[in-house]
Amino acid sequence: MASASSFLSRCHTTLAVAVALLCAIAAVSSAAGAGGRGPITTGGRNYTRVCDPARFAAPGLDASRFRYCDASLPYTDRVRDLVGRMTLEEKVRNLGDQAEGAPRVGLPPYRWWGEALHGVSDIGPGGTWFGDVVPGATSFPLVINAAAAFNESLWRAVGAAVSTEIRAMYNLGHAELTYWSPNINVVRDPRTSAAAADPFARPIKVSSCCKHFAAYDVDAWLKADRLTFDAQVQERDMVETFERPFEMCIRDGDASCVMCSYNRINGIPACADARLLTETVRDQWQLHGYIVSDCDSVRVMVRDAMWLNYTGVEATAAAMKAGLDLDCGMFWEGARDFFTTYGVDAVRQGKIKEADVDNALTNVYLTLMRLGFFDGMPEFESLGATDVCSKEHKELAADAARQGMVVLKNDACRLPLDPNKIKSVSLVGLLEHINATDVMLGDYRGVFEPPDTRVPAGGETPENMVSKNSGVSGPLDTQI
Ligand SMILES: *[C@@H]1O[C@H](CO)[C@@H](O)[C@H](O)[C@H]1NC(C)=O
Ligand SMILES: *[C@@H]1O[C@H](CO)[C@@H](O)[C@H](O)[C@H]1NC(C)=O
Ligand SMILES: *[C@@H]1O[C@H](CO)[C@@H](O)[C@H](O)[C@H]1NC(C)=O
Ligand SMILES: *[C@@H]1O[C@H](CO)[C@@H](O)[C@H](O)[C@H]1NC(C)=O
Repeated sequence: MASASSFLSRCHTTLAVAVALLCAIAAVSSAAGAGGRGPITTGGRNYTRVCDPARFAAPGLDASRFRYCDASLPYTDRVRDLVGRMTLEEKVRNLGDQAEGAPRVGLPPYRWWGEALHGVSDIGPGGTWFGDVVPGATSFPLVINAAAAFNESLWRAVGAAVSTEIRAMYNLGHAELTYWSPNINVVRDPRTSAAAADPFARPIKVSSCCKHFAAYDVDAWLKADRLTFDAQVQERDMVETFERPFEMCIRDGDASCVMCSYNRINGIPACADARLLTETVRDQWQLHGYIVSDCDSVRVMVRDAMWLNYTGVEATAAAMKAGLDLDCGMFWEGARDFFTTYGVDAVRQGKIKEADVDNALTNVYLTLMRLGFFDGMPEFESLGATDVCSKEHKELAADAARQGMVVLKNDACRLPLDPNKIKSVSLVGLLEHINATDVMLGDYRGVFEPPDTRVPAGGETPENMVSKNSGVSGPLDTQI
């Protein structure tokens, strides 16, 4: 594979690029910038940090009496204080992606599920949303394209832009701080953050998550289905192919989350595999964050894989003991995730200890501490609506698209087209690609789309771009 620029420089030319800039409407804001409304709602008011004294005062609490709000103490002491205040029932209600908090001790609810695979997306149950002052976020090229640029500075710049948009949206009450991106299942390696020392004590701008761990490259293929797939992987292949990208993501990329996958590996569900989650991710690679299930993975063990004929309680216990900290599972027939549903029974029946629950919550709240969820993060507090979909971010998205373009073939240096010689062209492929509509936006997109808008504002279809830049207009009948 070679990049577009290397191919084309040989032909002494440049290539006009069709770029879809997906900020649906320029995010115009006036007063909404600094100060923020925040996603934490208590007593009818919104806040950007848990330990805001005014937030405690509303229900008659005194923030200074809660050691977990004492910013002079180490995170670990503060988290121990917080978890130590909670009853078993309160703890278990915070083991799922839609954590309920514990109002009695000042802890607000938190929605863990965020997606930002190529820009901030509103996929997930409402923690991140578009509308009013934030109609859309900058949509960057899909990682398969960005990766083809082979440019680490570019990936870093994109990561910085996405995380800035998240912090801005957080201030405005439009986002949480935990994002289940990037997807690095084999061959993709879009790392976004820098390596650093003493990670558990170090603040992070946004929490990213390496997913889906591990040996998970089959969504649906022939008779294989990701929910029941049992990947048979030899040890060497496991280490060299499937584990290595995750090791890099955690160790070099300093990601603060790993998501385990639906499939089994050599018979054992990824989310109940202590060797993978605890021995490898937690101990060997030193994850300083939390491990989350792909949504409904624990249920999948019971309902789809029917692993060991486990009950909900048994699967919950097996997963938590293996090292799973947080269970995403909102789609299950109107009920909650398995951890929240079965956690109390699992402790009462002696299948796990309350200390296992404490351990899971500790990993989860240390991550939120690092994100400034409790104390705020002054350096990002002035970010507002004008930092989302900014001109710079849109240009970066366009640049990323250009850098990732790959020309597979340019026979006889026919590109760029010479309008003096060529009077008509045929674009071959699916019409929906050529006349880029929905498909070009990619999935997990981060854009607010009015239902009747198929081509994004500011975007161009390949068809338009060829017409414009070649001076040739359709309808198109000659193949080059
Ligand atoms: C709090 O935030 C929500 C969601 O953004 C919003 O609907 C509500 O009006 C805000 N409340 C106040 C008092 O600003
Ligand atoms: C890599 O990307 C950065 C940021 O867009 C850009 O400034 C730089 O020129 C790129 N490097 C190469 C070698 O193209
Ligand atoms: C699960 O239950 C089914 C039906 O009772 C039984 O045939 C099967 O052997 C059981 N599987 C295991 C692993 O215990
Ligand atoms: C491309 O899509 C637009 C908008 O849907 C439509 O008006 C146009 O006819 C399409 N072009 C072709 C070549 O089908």
